[in-house]
Amino acid sequence: MRTQVGIIGAGPAGLLLSHLLHLRGISSVVLEKRSRDYVERRVRAGVLEQGTVDTLVEAGVGERMLREGLPHHGIELRYGGAGHRIPFEKLVPGRAITVYGQQEVVKDLIAARLAAGADIRFEVEDVELHDLESQPYVTFGGERLDCDVIAGCDGFHGVSRPAIPEGVLSVFERDYPFAWLGILARVAPSSEELIYARTERGFALHSMRSPTVSRFYLQVPADARLEDWPDERIWAELRTRLETVPGFTLSTGEITERGITPMRGFVAEPMQYGRLYLAGDAAHIVPPTGAKGLNLAVADVRVLTEALAAYFENGSTELLDGYSDACLKRVWRAQHFSWWMTTLLHTFEEDDPYARRLQLSYLDYVTSSEAAATTLAENYVGLPFDVGR
Ligand code: FAD
Ligand code: PHB
Repeated sequence: MRTQVGIIGAGPAGLLLSHLLHLRGISSVVLEKRSRDYVERRVRAGVLEQGTVDTLVEAGVGERMLREGLPHHGIELRYGGAGHRIPFEKLVPGRAITVYGQQEVVKDLIAARLAAGADIRFEVEDVELHDLESQPYVTFGGERLDCDVIAGCDGFHGVSRPAIPEGVLSVFERDYPFAWLGILARVAPSSEELIYARTERGFALHSMRSPTVSRFYLQVPADARLEDWPDERIWAELRTRLETVPGFTLSTGEITERGITPMRGFVAEPMQYGRLYLAGDAAHIVPPTGAKGLNLAVADVRVLTEALAAYFENGSTELLDGYSDACLKRVWRAQHFSWWMTTLLHTFEEDDPYARRLQLSYLDYVTSSEAAATTLAENYVGLPFDVGR
């Protein structure tokens, strides 16, 4: 079997890349380890930056997102017994976020790819990458896929990054001493906008998916186990951390999904080796506090599409050679923003009273200074694609 671009992984990065390449007349085959049902149900991110929304709309896969997604023009930072709104419409006019589940984006992309006759193989086994320096090919389940280039879009635990010979990549890493326990609940959101709450007992986030489905996260110890968190404990803790301002009551409902996500920052440089190009979580991950993971994957794929289009249209390798450099500026900005939001809002066991005072002082600054709030707002809604290049 032969194709121009062999894509490993049918997450947002791999699927969007396959779709954008198709729009440029470039062929691809997508190899995914899991079933279609599994990838369409996997609950993860929910905040789409303006640029991500624009990308999906321009690519013709934004119709349902525009209909069902929830545009948000601000978020709330809650701490010290008060809520403070960060108003995007005032601080970053014309830019906003859209709350729309990652698995809905994945569903829309799979539907569009299959409607266009794409070759997506689900439940493939034993994917291995070969000959990355010259004539790359992928083997899986007894088959062989020859390609001009391979796109490694198989997430943090995939096989693409480890296929790069030892010593080539520089790895930068930060593990946080806590995790997020996330739930999805069948209950109307208790707030119109997202609430990022900092309390002495730890961080909590109130998000949502639709007018009838809410999404919550709790900071928990890194070694927390789901079996120690029965429904009543989750709701009690969410109440304690969110019902901290007068007049706010948390509505509860049936919990339909739950999971624990470790918190980590990670970057592998460069994001390419020979004819292999890494995109999304395969190359970098961020702690979810800044809601950047999915958006970064989309940004990588935009850059890679342009580079591959130049290569297949006129043989130019200039953009491909510069792919990693072009992506890493945005990647590091998102790393910094995600680290900053995380340290601003979480409790760290090692923090002494002095460190806690510093954290509260910074929160006061962000919620009272327009310049500081604008820094948060413009990073949160996403910097334009040309900034930092
Ligand atoms: P992925 O979505 O991970 O897709 C990679 C795909 O490759 C998967 O479908 C996987 O099954 C497949 N794959 C893996 N190995 C192989 C293999 N060997 N062969 C073939 N296929 C393979 N971000 C936020 O902004 N907010 C959040 O709340 C949030 N929550 C998260 C919760 C969890 C549990 C995780 C893991 C991530 C979360 N993220 C969140 C991050 C965000 O979801 C990711 O940044 C985003 O999914 C990146 O997309 P991707 O396509 O690069 O990778
Ligand atoms: C979500 O809705 O899943 C979500 C929202 C904001 C974040 C992370 C996750 O920072």
